Amino acid sequence: MEELKTIQWFPGHMTKTKRKIESQLKLIDAVAILLDARVPYSSCNPDLRSIINNKPRVMILNKCDMADPSETKKWLRTFQQNNISAIALDCKSGRGLNAFIPTVKNVLSDKLELWKSKGMTGRTIKVMVVGIPNVGKSSFINRMSKQNRAKVEDRPGVTRGNQWFTIGKGFDLLDTPGVLWPKFDDQSVGEKLAYIGSVKDDVLDTETLSGRLLVYLRDHHIEPLCTRYKLNKDEITGLRDYELLELVGRKRGMLISGGEIDTERAAAAVLDEFRSATLGKITLDKADDYSNVRI
Ligand code: G4P
Repeated sequence: MEELKTIQWFPGHMTKTKRKIESQLKLIDAVAILLDARVPYSSCNPDLRSIINNKPRVMILNKCDMADPSETKKWLRTFQQNNISAIALDCKSGRGLNAFIPTVKNVLSDKLELWKSKGMTGRTIKVMVVGIPNVGKSSFINRMSKQNRAKVEDRPGVTRGNQWFTIGKGFDLLDTPGVLWPKFDDQSVGEKLAYIGSVKDDVLDTETLSGRLLVYLRDHHIEPLCTRYKLNKDEITGLRDYELLELVGRKRGMLISGGEIDTERAAAAVLDEFRSATLGKITLDKADDYSNVRI
């Protein structure tokens, strides 16, 4: 998927964002890094660690309602083993949000002790929220500030100005200054982001994308795929992407005049059902595959 790299990765934009984030670092105490729980590795900009330098951080596995719960647990354990604080959230229902402030306070415990010893107990804790487009930053800030002031955009990559939000007494959040683009170091990262819908569909051929997704699911998550589309494992062994898409379309009765299969409709249905987790709670980045990777 060569085209993804050129469309989504803008070094110039990233340089601007990097500068903006760096200029705000001195104003904040910690960074909350939002990740999509279905792709915790692929949704993390690999440059971020060096940009935020040594700022204390909390990883947030958002959209955990759509991820495989056992994988989310493994990811939390992996972070813990690397001495990184992490929590799982679902901003749709609000599940897990209560853990956020205590986790940040825990990460900052030495600093808070220091403030206390200096009589600065009323000082506001400031946290910068960062993450690639579409991980749920606005939803998270909305939920936390309960004021609905953060704009939830359905288009990835909308530029925002610097915005502060008070989410509790003595606790402020700063929305990502600039747009933190994902970085496609390898093709599979770009593909996974496209599968979950973090890359705009209008720049991609949806039939190719959904065909590849079907092959990926056949090779890595065959059970939910077979259950959803009433396929049996033997009939899909060895099929190529377009053949799989056609089979799904046929099983779904998606035909156009003359009995031909409406692959466009089938492609849209597959992507939609995968992205809404109707196909199942599927984690594409398996924690065991990344236990040695620093993110
Ligand atoms: P961003 O600021 O990082 O770009 O992300 P944003 O909050 O705009 O969220 C992107 C999409 O993800 C939104 O859906 C939002 O509702 C959805 N979302 C955010 N957090 C969660 C979560 O924990 N679980 C689930 N299932 N979805 C989440 P949308 O379709 O673009 O808009 P809408 O459905 O809210 O209308």
